[in-house]
Amino acid sequence: MAATITIASDFSEQPPVHSTKAVTIKSLSESGLNSIPSSFASKNLHDLSVLDSSEDAIPIIDFSLLSSGNPKQRCKAIQDLGQACEEWGCFLLINHGMPESLINSMMEGVKGFFDLSDEEKKEFQGKHIFDPIRYGSSFNTAVEQVHCWRDFLKVFVHPDFHFPHKPAGFSDAAFEYFKRIREVIRELLKGVSESLGLEPNYISKAMNMESSFQVFVANLYPPCPEPELAVGIHPHSDHGFLTILSENGINGLQTLHNGNWVKLKAPPNALMVNTADLLEIVSNGKYKSNVHRAVLYSNATRISMVTANGPSFDQLVGPAPELVNETHPPAYTSLTYRQFYELHQSNSLDKKSALDRVHIPT
Ligand code: OGA
Ligand code: NI
Repeated sequence: MAATITIASDFSEQPPVHSTKAVTIKSLSESGLNSIPSSFASKNLHDLSVLDSSEDAIPIIDFSLLSSGNPKQRCKAIQDLGQACEEWGCFLLINHGMPESLINSMMEGVKGFFDLSDEEKKEFQGKHIFDPIRYGSSFNTAVEQVHCWRDFLKVFVHPDFHFPHKPAGFSDAAFEYFKRIREVIRELLKGVSESLGLEPNYISKAMNMESSFQVFVANLYPPCPEPELAVGIHPHSDHGFLTILSENGINGLQTLHNGNWVKLKAPPNALMVNTADLLEIVSNGKYKSNVHRAVLYSNATRISMVTANGPSFDQLVGPAPELVNETHPPAYTSLTYRQFYELHQSNSLDKKSALDRVHIPT
């Protein structure tokens, strides 16, 4: 392993140890090094078995049945959705109605963004977790012990739409893309509410989804000289209700299920969906947020587009009163999404550590 380096979003107060010049993971990868700097060496990467999706099949949810007028089909789809949330915390969504051309335009925009020169991208280099546009590397270099082999662009896209003005056309495609994602989320949350025995609009109404906070993360995982030693993104759960993810044809997402990592492999044009921490809170622990990680390759660049969808930023989130009773006392402290987002983003990414802080032990 090569010496310690300082990566671009390293805004810690600490003077860098062996610093030469701050770099992005893309430029580090392109510099042609043949081993990783020691600050990227992950422990416990190989503690658990890794299964193919054929060995443990990830649930598939047909969106067209969820929104179908046929009550019997819809009822079955809601049941399947509830089961996927309870047993897996993730599923593949097919027939979702998001145009393939729109998804492709977004992916082209993301590629174009990461291909801008370092000088051009500097303009978007946020310093603070509440900056609405933030381009950087790893996750939170100020506090993390081990860095992720990843560059990212993180953007707040709703209720106010922020977006980089480069490359040309990216912002227009994005505006349409996130609107369509919110429509899919609205329908999914209806099904999720019903699967919890709540009325269909329960989550949407109680959680003020009209002004839902939506954050987009584009992840770039450049080729890594030692993919068996480093990680693209550490095991973690996401912060909102539901996260929608798609990738550039290179599979790299793994989900923790029954003590094994299971590789996610989506059929063409399917979206991957994760249940996230606030859904675990609202469901009072019935639905567990999904722990996942991203792995690397030595010879391929992986790109993922991740959209986190949650309630209004100022919404107080706690277990739904209908799901609290003597046998199920409230398992989480109520807090606003803003407070939870801060907890999630200002610490290191470490499994469910943000949720653990608000969990009430029984
Ligand atoms: C994330 C995430 C996984 C991936 O950005 O929250 O889990 O495959 N990404 O990029
Ligand atoms: Ni995630």
